[in-house]
Amino acid sequence: MNLASRPTRFWTLSVFSGAAVLIYLFATAPTELSNKNPVKPTLSAEEALTFMAFENDVTRTLFTKAIVGQGKKQGLAFDENWAQPDVHAGPLPALFLRGVSDELSRSPVPLNLFLGSDFPIEGTNKLNKQQGEVFIQMKEDDRPRFFEDLTSGEFVGMFPDYASAAPCVTCHNQHPNSTKTDWEMGDMMGATTWSYPKDSLTTDEFIAMLSAYRTGVSVVWDAYLDELNHLEAQKQPGIGEQWPKDGLFIPNHQTLRDSIDDLVGPHLLAEFISSASTP
Ligand code: HEC
Repeated sequence: MNLASRPTRFWTLSVFSGAAVLIYLFATAPTELSNKNPVKPTLSAEEALTFMAFENDVTRTLFTKAIVGQGKKQGLAFDENWAQPDVHAGPLPALFLRGVSDELSRSPVPLNLFLGSDFPIEGTNKLNKQQGEVFIQMKEDDRPRFFEDLTSGEFVGMFPDYASAAPCVTCHNQHPNSTKTDWEMGDMMGATTWSYPKDSLTTDEFIAMLSAYRTGVSVVWDAYLDELNHLEAQKQPGIGEQWPKDGLFIPNHQTLRDSIDDLVGPHLLAEFISSASTP
């Protein structure tokens, strides 16, 4: 029996082997390695990007379900034009990710993030020729792909983006610019594509990569909280430790951060126990 959803299974398989590497890195390796060579790469770009993609998936699914899905029930608005000065709303999930990706491109860390699809709502999100070919292969076996970008020469990691929450499907099917209107739960709707100029990283470079992503999330979150400040007083949610499922609330940055951290561990553990008990 396997109760875990398709995306959960995907991430468990991809990250679980990586988790062993990280335990090795942080629990045992640094002292030993640093004695020999302090700048020796300790992580392949494949491993690093797999962790980044998992962190990103957890963040975005939480945002989609717990903020957009539940927030709408509390009367909170989410809009494609959320960044325009006269629109007071939150970002759609894809635009949340775009905001993080923009912050990443402003950071000194040479990491790029792009969310694309073969059937995009927004034309500029269409996968390019090389990405499109790799995406077709990925749809056949659900496995991430790692390759060299033929134009830039950068190392690329491409990961499936599944319809993991009901709002993904309903919103994309109903959107007037959608190029496909029969998405179903669990479909591979697109791919998050990460690129990095090197094929291996030191532990410090990996931490810098993760910090840059997390900084991006906090910048976008601050921008969202600022939008909420512009709402009429009676429509303003309480900002603190509660979530929209409890009423007209939006978590502050620390509460969001804690939940993301909490979500990563239990998912992996649940799947591990379930696969361990399957003969
Ligand atoms: C409330 C509406 C809404 C929800 C919910 C939503 N999306 Fe989107 N999504 C959009 C819009 C609009 C765009 C295009 C944004 C842009 O780049 O201008 C988009 C972009 C995307 C893209 C990039 C390709 C494209 O269509 O432009 C992917 C892939 C994607 N979404 C997947 C998802 C997944 C997976 C979920 C759920 C985790 C989700 N979306 C939830 C509206 C939504």
